[in-house]
Amino acid sequence: MAATVNVNGRITPERDAVISVFDHGFLYGEGIYETMRTYHGRLFLYERHTRRLRNSARMISLDVPFTDQQLSTQIRDTIAASGLTGETYVRVLVTRGVGDLTYDPHATPVPSVVIIVKPHVDPPAEVYAKGVHAVICDIVRNHPGSVNPMIKSNNLMNSALAMQEALTRGGFEGIMRNYKGELTECTTSNLFIVRHGAAVTPPLDAGLLPGITREFLFDVGKEIGIDVLEQPLRDADLFAADEAFLTSTTREVVPIVTVDDRTIGTGTPGPVTNTLLDGFRKRAQAG
Ligand SMILES: Cc1ncc(COP(=O)(O)O)c(C=O)c1O
Repeated sequence: MAATVNVNGRITPERDAVISVFDHGFLYGEGIYETMRTYHGRLFLYERHTRRLRNSARMISLDVPFTDQQLSTQIRDTIAASGLTGETYVRVLVTRGVGDLTYDPHATPVPSVVIIVKPHVDPPAEVYAKGVHAVICDIVRNHPGSVNPMIKSNNLMNSALAMQEALTRGGFEGIMRNYKGELTECTTSNLFIVRHGAAVTPPLDAGLLPGITREFLFDVGKEIGIDVLEQPLRDADLFAADEAFLTSTTREVVPIVTVDDRTIGTGTPGPVTNTLLDGFRKRAQAG
């Protein structure tokens, strides 16, 4: 993997990166994170990522112990120490910190901050050329009144169990429904369908992570003249769609061509998906 890790300001190769077993991130999954990547060595949509990080922190009553500028300096130092010259993957984690075995936040006055830097690896070209298979999981997305999916939380059991199910069934991704049976998102990406030429994604109140790529695609759509809309979606909408795709920071826009035992549209990456991917890449490459 060849990662370089910054743990509370101490930068080391991955084998020397350590954190206490009494960190509440480890004990209770109490923490939040962001995944970013660079294009031409620059962090893409940094301000949007830090805004979401702060929102996640607020939703778990965690004080973020740095300014955006301080975090950016730490990330730059970690990338510099890694010696990587290509594009990098950057994961920032902030946990409740180290303390006694209690849920009382007073036991953990100092949050832990971890930055993981490794090479960014694009998905194989055939993922974009041929599209991927997704499965609709039986595991239901967290109820917003429980661990709200709006929080980009280190507590990833819900997503991990759904992805296990998807992998067992041969899926590149797993699509999750909410407690009402509506489609929400995938285990590590957001979901879109295409119908009547418009890209449609479930609204945030379906209970899903406000993906930065998802959000950015609304801007891209406006620029290139493709409607990008939010509407509640169910299985039947997906199966009847002309196209479908997923979005995430590390995978951009990936066509979904089959779901469970159904073919979506023509079973090949469609024109709206490809145009949005192209528009997205142009904007991302331009910084
Ligand atoms: C559950 C979930 N939904 C959506 C996304 C995509 O978000 P972004 O576009 O910000 O990478 C992720 C990314 O990791 C995720 O974990």
